[in-house]
Parts: sequence; structure tokens; C-alpha cells
Amino acid sequence: MKIIAIINHKGGTGKTTSTLNIGAGLARIKKKTLLVDIDPQSNLTEGLGFRDVKVSIYDSIKDDVALPIASVSEYLDIIPSSLDLLGAEIELVSRLGRETILKRLLKSVEGKYDYVLIDCAPALGMLTVNALVAADTVMIPLEAEYFAYRGIDRLISIISDVRTHYNENLTIGGVFITKINPRRVITEQITESIKKYFSDKLFQTSIRVNVALVEAQLKGVDVFEYAPISNAAVDYANLTDEIVEKI
Ligand SMILES: Nc1ncnc2c1ncn2[C@@H]1O[C@H](COP(=O)(O)OP(=O)(O)O)[C@@H](O)[C@H]1O
Ligand SMILES: [Mg+2]
Repeated sequence: MKIIAIINHKGGTGKTTSTLNIGAGLARIKKKTLLVDIDPQSNLTEGLGFRDVKVSIYDSIKDDVALPIASVSEYLDIIPSSLDLLGAEIELVSRLGRETILKRLLKSVEGKYDYVLIDCAPALGMLTVNALVAADTVMIPLEAEYFAYRGIDRLISIISDVRTHYNENLTIGGVFITKINPRRVITEQITESIKKYFSDKLFQTSIRVNVALVEAQLKGVDVFEYAPISNAAVDYANLTDEIVEKI
């Protein structure tokens, strides 16, 4: 079982869209996958059609109740989030062992999945630290913009601290570029500068801008179901294959 945290403290870089569609991509090739939504905004939860969730990851973090695993499809499950999770960040401050709560909770699913994907909030707070402590590896989606990696050194330094104190085997599995527009002249320059910065950590697959991704999320389904022959379906299928190969 590989636990992958999808992290970038900048909002809108494609964390949730990627978690959802990589998860669906893995399920399509019969890899049993669990999605974990630890963003209070609950975009992943809602993007898969779950609304008005009664029990969420918040209840497990706060009261240690069993993880509320819901089935999306035969090979895909989700642990939903809820807005209550906003309070967790503050409530955790005074808790003993606060950095390792998610890791402990995920012990109960050990061996039941091939992959666990954790969708993080655009923040570097205690919930994100919990994801890093629980994870085997990190994937960082970067928007195809200049200076997309500005501020990433803060994330890298937190990863390094987590390695020192809690999780010595944590690796950076890779970086991938999202929302790429191949018709834009500067796209190639942006890709080149990201490649220079991350060298072999950059995945070959980039995700093109595609409105099908936005529409699918509104419908509460993944892009393979919503638009199976779209560029987005092709890109996420390729990225999924690369993950299976490299991570
Ligand atoms: N490749 C893409 N093409 C077009 N829109 C996208 C793409 N990836 C993400 N989006 C849209 O951009 C917005 C932010 O993406 P999201 O995955 O929610 O980012 P994050 O979780 O990092 O904040 C969402 O409205 C999403 O539907
Ligand atoms: Mg998100």
C-alpha cells in the first residue's frame, strides 16, 4: 500500500482535480484506491457527489471514531471531509501526538488498498503535517505559470523537518504541471524552467487545460465517466500510468 499526499500550499494548482482523477484512473486499472479529503473546503468530497456528509474525517480526528469510508465505485473509496475540519487546526494545538493522528487512523486500512491519495488544503498547517507524517511520498501539482515554484522551498523545508522528526522514509515522488495551454507561446519556457528546478522529479505527463474537468466536478463524477475521449481523460490516464511505474 502506497500513501501519496498531493500537496501545494498555493490554492488552485489542481490538487483536488488531480486527486480525484488519478484516483479514478487507478480504479480503472483495478488498483484498489482510497481517497482521503483533509481539506475543510471539501471540494474532493463534493466533486464526487457527496453532499451533507454526516460523519467525516473530522469525527475520526477529533473523537477517534472509525474512519467513515464511503464507496465511490468497485475499486474506489473515499473518506469525506466537512467544514467542521476548519476547527481541527486550532483544536489540534493542545493535543498530544497531534502530528501523528492521521497516520494512526490509517493503520486500520493497512493492506486493504493499493493506493491511498490524500488531498491537502492549500495551507502548511497541522493537517498538512499530518498528511506528510502519514505519507510514503509526496506529489506536487504546479500550475503552468511563471514562478509556479515560488514558495515551494517552504514546502520542501517542512518535508525535510517531517523526515527528521517523524517519517524518515518520506520521499518526493514527483512534480507535475497542470492547466497547461499548449497554444500559449510561453508554455514551453515555463516547462523548461520547472524542469531545470526539479530535474528528474518532473513527471513527463502534463495536464492540459480542459473545461471537461470543471464540468465533471460540477456533475459529481470523474472525467473518465464524464468525457472519456477528452484531452483530460487522456492526460490523467497517462499520469496514472506514470505513477504506477515510478511510485
Ligand atoms: N486542467 C484543468 N483545466 C481546466 N480547469 C482545471 C484544470 N485543473 C483544475 N481546474 C479547475 O481549476 C480550479 C482549481 O482546481 P483544484 O483542483 O480545485 O485546485 P486545488 O485543489 O489545488 O485548490 C477548479 O475549478 C478546477 O475545476
Ligand atoms: Mg483543493
